[in-house]
Amino acid sequence: MKILVIGSGGREHALVWKISMSPLVSKIYCLPGSAGIAEIAECVHLDPLEITQVADWAAKHQIDLTVVGPELPLTLGIVDEFQVRGLPIFGATKKAAQIEGSKVFCKELLHKYNIPTADYRIFSAPQAALNYVRRLSKAVVIKADGLAAGKGVIVCKDTASAEGAIALIMEDQAFGAAGERIIIEDCLVGDEASFLVFTDGETVLPMVSAQDHKTVYDGDQGPNTGGMGAYSPTPLVTPQLTEKIMQEVMLPAVEGMAQEGCPYRGVLYAGLMIVDGELYVLEFNARFGDPETQAILPLMDSDIVPVMQAVVDERLAEVDIKWKPGAAVCVALTSGGYPGSYQKGQIIQGLNKLQSMGDILLFHAGTNYKNGSWLTNGGRVLGVVGYGLDIPAAIKRAYEGVSNVNFEHMHCRTDIGKKAFNYLA
Ligand code: AMP
Ligand code: GLY
Repeated sequence: MKILVIGSGGREHALVWKISMSPLVSKIYCLPGSAGIAEIAECVHLDPLEITQVADWAAKHQIDLTVVGPELPLTLGIVDEFQVRGLPIFGATKKAAQIEGSKVFCKELLHKYNIPTADYRIFSAPQAALNYVRRLSKAVVIKADGLAAGKGVIVCKDTASAEGAIALIMEDQAFGAAGERIIIEDCLVGDEASFLVFTDGETVLPMVSAQDHKTVYDGDQGPNTGGMGAYSPTPLVTPQLTEKIMQEVMLPAVEGMAQEGCPYRGVLYAGLMIVDGELYVLEFNARFGDPETQAILPLMDSDIVPVMQAVVDERLAEVDIKWKPGAAVCVALTSGGYPGSYQKGQIIQGLNKLQSMGDILLFHAGTNYKNGSWLTNGGRVLGVVGYGLDIPAAIKRAYEGVSNVNFEHMHCRTDIGKKAFNYLA
């Protein structure tokens, strides 16, 4: 089979790596890919948002299966474009991807199908929103309706910061049209987990659970980033809680989407807050998580390609997915200054050493290769994944890997995975 993966980050490197292990696969392309991905796939120099060109390319090269990594091509309708032409593609249609692309759509779905989520109100005028937060006078979370590159959610501890967030999104239009409508919801305090499933619109098969680390510094301090690391599985999500998530969240969401006339096929990712054993959906994503995927896929024992084909052909009920015992921890190595401004072009040392280490995987998020050297080329540069028979062993292995890599102003959190110990007690 010839497979095409759309995207260029650490998540896509992990997807290409996992797909490359399949005996069914003879050739993998990645569009646009990256210097790191180029080591195991042929990169295609096209813009993934130019969906007509991408579909033309896939048709010409007789691609047997296309797998979409990021959300933007999904919300632009890449899956619909492929489907019209009869080209097999793994991902949510434009209508189904609204579950991520519009937080108002997502909240209304949750409400209609009785899926637990924080109480909320929707506003399309700043004055009414301001009146509401003044009347409420408590901590709230303010969310721009549309996609805002992960920056459209502002947690406001008091009324003054809520007023500031409303002004930023609705008056200054910091996120453009994405902020024409906002959601103001109750601020929940609990533990977050990422729960991803494969679904063909009817059958829902869970992946192992994961926990992301969003803030830049240890102890969940500092501004939010695209993710500083993740581990899987998280003991926060016990077998009982997994069952509850399936029954109260994933199955009703997939059924609800079908009833709304937008059957959901692909990966559905629930961002959950767990408060005293009760679940709340913070968001849905219409794709694999980044960096969660870098920790989840190394634990997948089964070949991923037949699973993806079964999703596309709507016969997931025939499939069984096996997971490895043990745990995986992904530590992101970032450029100093990220998520603010940072330098690119620093020489990365030590990558060869990682290649000879067992139980270590390396996924490139933002690198370049020039004149025989790997160079930094983004905020998140690399993901170092350690595998172990339990979480402490996986943490140890991941940081042993990290200790071999160096570049100027390199930063990483030193506490990825440690939260797991709170749940093991
Ligand atoms: P979202 O993109 O909706 O998942 O929000 C991004 C982050 O904002 C989440 O990972 C949480 O850390 C935080 N967040 C979102 N909604 C809430 C909420 N209702 N209460 C507390 N924190 C929240
Ligand atoms: N790890 C968060 C996300 O993929 O949206």
